[in-house]
Amino acid sequence: MTARTSLTIVLAAGEGTRMRSSMPKVLHQVAGQSLLAHVLGAAPKGTERTGAALAVVIGPDHQAVAQEISRVRPDAKTFIQRERLGTAHAVLAARDAIARGADDLLIAFGDTPLISAATFARLRAALKSGAGVAVLGFRAVDPTGYGRLLVEGGRLVDIREHADASAEVRAITLCNAGVMAFDGRRALEIIEKIGNANSKREYYLVDAVAIARQMGLEAVVIETSEDEVRGINTKAQLAEAESVMQARLRQAALAAGVTLIAPETVYLAADTSFGNDVVIEPFVVIGPGVSIADGAVIHSFSHIVQASIGKKASVGPYARLRPGTSLGDGARIGNFVETKAAILEAGVKVNHLSYIGDAHVGANSNIGAGTITCNYDGFSKHKTMIGAGAFVGTNSSLVAPVNIGAGAYIGSGSVITKDVPDDALAVERSPQTNREGGAKRYRELKTRDKPPKGG
Ligand code: UD1
Ligand code: MG
Repeated sequence: MTARTSLTIVLAAGEGTRMRSSMPKVLHQVAGQSLLAHVLGAAPKGTERTGAALAVVIGPDHQAVAQEISRVRPDAKTFIQRERLGTAHAVLAARDAIARGADDLLIAFGDTPLISAATFARLRAALKSGAGVAVLGFRAVDPTGYGRLLVEGGRLVDIREHADASAEVRAITLCNAGVMAFDGRRALEIIEKIGNANSKREYYLVDAVAIARQMGLEAVVIETSEDEVRGINTKAQLAEAESVMQARLRQAALAAGVTLIAPETVYLAADTSFGNDVVIEPFVVIGPGVSIADGAVIHSFSHIVQASIGKKASVGPYARLRPGTSLGDGARIGNFVETKAAILEAGVKVNHLSYIGDAHVGANSNIGAGTITCNYDGFSKHKTMIGAGAFVGTNSSLVAPVNIGAGAYIGSGSVITKDVPDDALAVERSPQTNREGGAKRYRELKTRDKPPKGG
């Protein structure tokens, strides 16, 4: 038997007025990823070619949303709903996609980021066993505002929107989560029959249930937890969803063997990846695009975004790794060090109080306390290249563009504006006192084949 094909339509045309933001609602983030990206990530995987098509309905002025869609799921088709006339009207904006006739039509909302792939699979299983419509339901602690599921004799017979519900119906706590699945061959026929005879004059997708039943199709409820279907309408709800998601990510990290000493103080991103035996100390914030390899330790109060951390590397306490940072195996980044667009090869040490940006640092180099790569001249950014095994003395400014050769020694307090050849001793613009002595002593030690210590 061949696998069933699917079309998932995500509705995201809403303005999200209650967020009180100039940004479209679905672009707000949970765990470093847009609400929309979470939903698209949970939808059945694949492309239209492999039988898992994806469509998103957005508002007319939502260029930024369209961009986010093509970034996360380039295969997804975007449809524009010109007027907001209700959820059924929004679904019909994607009529062309529905008309192609997938076996399963799944509808989800772009502002429900905690939905899981497993739930979509459960709804599809109900269709496979013969249901015409499957609706995701949940028991709401406070059902106010939600559509109520009317169940008779174990069968779903109708959904009533809160605004149109009697006091008796409002007492029902089984609510519509908003996610629905339809027999894809009947969906268009059902949804086109939906009218707008209700208090808001909107085309309600929920009316599909009663219509499907009139057509002799069976409707069923698939229940899930309230946490999974939290919709985001306000900043307070966004914060609640963040806390639910963080709890999930911490549990997943612990289950994968990551040591979190105080999990509730560590913030992760949806895409954080961990090797084996990683230790994360309390109060660490990890943004999107971070991978941490085997045996690495992240000490307290570090902030890391779009960075890859090599095996047995050590970061912090109080380190800031900005986008484009790559730490080689065993590299050490100490307190009050900031890195950006910096490749630090294996064994590099930057232990204290430094800024290393737009730089490449060769293996086993030692960057002394207070070293600054002066990457910006007020107009553009320039690169600092440091060869392997170099020693940069404390409080040095490396004025980019500049190349420091492999094995070179920079005397402390130097301001380096010209390239320094391999193995050269450079002491620039600084009194010749102790520093030259330091340079000589370094060379002596090096010729005696002892590696330099400290930074
Ligand atoms: C909807 C359901 C309700 C359910 C609740 C769960 C309907 C009629 N009601 O109500 O039963 O309990 O979700 O959270 O379906 N949208 C569009 N275009 C429109 C209208 C809506 O794209 O014209 C999108 C919104 O951006 C949003 C989703 O559809 O992503 C739901 O719309 P919303 O207005 O939030 O519906 P609710 O009143 O919450
Ligand atoms: Mg809503």
